[in-house]
Amino acid sequence: MKRILTVLGTRPEAIKLAPVVLELAKHSTKVQSLVCVTAQHREMLDQILEWFQITPDFDLNLMQHNQDLAKFTSRALTSISDVLAQVKPDVILVQGDTTTAMVAALAAFYQHIPVGHVEAGLRTGNRYNPFPEEINRRVVAVLGTFHFAPTKKAADALKAEQIPEEYIFLTGNTVVDSLLWTIQRPVQLELGFNLEKRPLILVTAHRRESFGAPLESLCLALRDLVERNNNIEIVYPVHLNPNVQEPVRRILSNHSRIHLLEPLRYEHFAHLMTKAYLILTDSGGIQEEAPILGKPTLVLRETTERPEAIEAGTAILVGVERERIIYETERLLNSPEKYQAMAMAGSPFGDGHAAERIVDILLSKL
Ligand code: UD1
Ligand code: UDP
Repeated sequence: MKRILTVLGTRPEAIKLAPVVLELAKHSTKVQSLVCVTAQHREMLDQILEWFQITPDFDLNLMQHNQDLAKFTSRALTSISDVLAQVKPDVILVQGDTTTAMVAALAAFYQHIPVGHVEAGLRTGNRYNPFPEEINRRVVAVLGTFHFAPTKKAADALKAEQIPEEYIFLTGNTVVDSLLWTIQRPVQLELGFNLEKRPLILVTAHRRESFGAPLESLCLALRDLVERNNNIEIVYPVHLNPNVQEPVRRILSNHSRIHLLEPLRYEHFAHLMTKAYLILTDSGGIQEEAPILGKPTLVLRETTERPEAIEAGTAILVGVERERIIYETERLLNSPEKYQAMAMAGSPFGDGHAAERIVDILLSKL
């Protein structure tokens, strides 16, 4: 029987690979499906695995506090290589552009094991933005065999990089599968406080290229926004990266209409998104989820590898400059027409059946 090993490490990889792992389990008579987690993230990973009821076959437990890119890379390369040597899979699956994805692809290449790349072909064209993700995903593209592109733009980017067309598959993004699966299930939202009936602005920000002055600037914009608009409420589940925790808590603590939370369980976060008026984020996954739920999004970055949402009109790239964030947020708070146009623009990222397509393709190719 053929063997597929799915390797993942962080929260977004777990969210986007869970539907593939669940789909593979339906074909257990044809293929043996195994899961290896590096635990590049620990708490933020575990709660996703729990929600989707996925028990890893290998848990490398590699996360360290405030980990260094090079050190994590080298530890992960050795540990993943050992698992590959033991399992000898016919193909490994990785997702996106994290260090775990890049390192697993390299480890597989060293052992002549084909790599399937879920969410292939996203590009900004700027090697330092997002950092290090733009180079991570290009490395996976070079090492990979099967490229599962979520959108036509992503498939075109791969073709332009001379990836053979017969190995590029347009599947949609598995994030749609996960989100629909999740919001269809009842959830008791536990935030630790009552949500007032005010416009709720949901915020997340964690990108490495924003550490330091850009992150401080966007926090100052959030503080200005609640001070200038006494009808709004901000909820910000703060990423556990210490480079995010410190400035966010220093600048935004102690305001009655700013709620700084621990990272929320995925099912709670998904349900909270449905209650938001507006989403301000630098997250890749949330840029894809918000349009599915009809939530206008301001992208707190200088570039995005997801221009589809901007072109569809559901998101605006606003950057991290304080005045611009305030201006764009207030424009949406004060213009029902503009808000409605964004809310109604629809999702360009898929139909919720991406995982089925990916598994069908893998089964036919193995
Ligand atoms: C990583 C990915 C990024 C992805 C993001 C999703 C890389 C280089 N970066 O960034 O592409 O967008 O995850 O969130 O692959 N921490 C905890 N508990 C957790 C998770 C993180 O304490 O469950 C803390 C630890 O101190 C850890 C630090 O956050 O060392 C950074 O984690 P790391 O995975 O290196 O980087 P992220 O910024 O999370
Ligand atoms: N998310 C979550 N809890 C939170 C914030 C986000 O479960 O408190 C989910 C969100 O719904 C999305 C994913 O985490 O699916 C995005 O992960 P993140 O922003 O960490 O990484 P990125 O997508 O930027 O790589």
